[in-house]
Amino acid sequence: MTILVTGGAGFIGSNFVLDWLAQSDEPVINLDALTYAGNLENLATLEGNKNHLFVKGGIGDFDLIAKLLAEHQPRAVVNFAAESHVDRSIHGPEDFIQTNIVGTFRLLEAVRAYWGGLPDEAKAAFRFLHVSTDEVYGSLGKDDPAFTETHRYEPNSPYSASKAASDHLVRAYHHTYGLPVLTTNCSNNYGPYHFPEKLIPLVIHNALAGKPLPIYGDGQQIRDWLYVKDHCSAIRRVLEAGRLGETYNIGGWNEKPNLDVVHTLCAILDHLSPRADGQPYKAQITYVKDRPGHDRRYAIDASKIERELGWKPAETFESGIKKTVQWYLDNQAWVANVTSGAYREWLGKQYGA
Ligand code: NAD
Ligand code: TYD
Repeated sequence: MTILVTGGAGFIGSNFVLDWLAQSDEPVINLDALTYAGNLENLATLEGNKNHLFVKGGIGDFDLIAKLLAEHQPRAVVNFAAESHVDRSIHGPEDFIQTNIVGTFRLLEAVRAYWGGLPDEAKAAFRFLHVSTDEVYGSLGKDDPAFTETHRYEPNSPYSASKAASDHLVRAYHHTYGLPVLTTNCSNNYGPYHFPEKLIPLVIHNALAGKPLPIYGDGQQIRDWLYVKDHCSAIRRVLEAGRLGETYNIGGWNEKPNLDVVHTLCAILDHLSPRADGQPYKAQITYVKDRPGHDRRYAIDASKIERELGWKPAETFESGIKKTVQWYLDNQAWVANVTSGAYREWLGKQYGA
């Protein structure tokens, strides 16, 4: 048996592929377009692993996907591939529409054609798991209950709108064609191989480089943080036992205001890698212009996956964030390689000089 993973050279996808192959002999076909966010170095430890086949290509390439499906006959497709950064979606939504909407549509079409031709037993066992985000539900007020799976879709950014559209397509392919789909909506992830355009790795990177730690607006926006390996274990569990056509919210009940997260990171760095001048890293905190349309609060109610599938995260925020900071300290060469020319161009565009 084999699975096809898309976007497996990005942050969450690479963690998923590494964890999968550490626990199973089942081969992975890893299809990734290697955009700025995809990095084969994330998969360096798989060099020579006969159970990992990397293919460079896009989810919008119907012919390529049809060929891969026919050749490898996977029993499941797990779709991580996406444009994923809200700020980039504000500067330029086009890539988000192309990959997240048109790309997911083409992928679904290729999968539908393949699945339709499978013998009955393989057809019944097949799964298409679509990885999505809590951001499709929009923004919560301070005292609102956390998002459940029945919360209305109210996406506010081009990123979340494009993910919402992809979720709807996946749902429609189940409802209309009977494609055996599963959708997961997860909260903000953090951990190894996180590209330093997102809050947590950006703050660690800038702190160590002696640069400002940019806080959008008042820093009181709330995100619900989950260690990436816990997201991966939840996806494996949904793939194994999720009910067809269902969506599962994934989160670790870890709501934190951004400013608290940045203070926590500064305190861990003060301990593990103190500044040469003895000053605390929090002295580098700088308030910058807020993100347009910035969602105030996300929070996931994860009781469905806990109750139905018995999934629970292994890390608390405290244990996961310490591991993450240590990983960045131990992997400065990885950080140096991904923060090359194109990365610096992005910083100039987003944060100015
Ligand atoms: P990422 O940006 O780090 O990685 C995305 C990967 O997809 C990259 O390797 C990129 O090269 C690849 N890719 C982009 N366009 C492609 C295309 N057209 N065809 C094939 N590959 C393509 O993103 P991530 O943070 O790892 O997120 C993975 C998935 O999880 C996304 O669908 C995202 O919406 C979802 N998600 C992310 C988070 C989070 O906190 N990062 C939370 C919930 C859900
Ligand atoms: P981000 O990591 O971009 O994830 P998302 O927007 O998908 O939740 O941002 C997390 C939070 O941190 C979000 O509220 C925006 C905020 N933020 C900053 O305050 N400064 C920054 O430089 C970045 C990148 C994000």
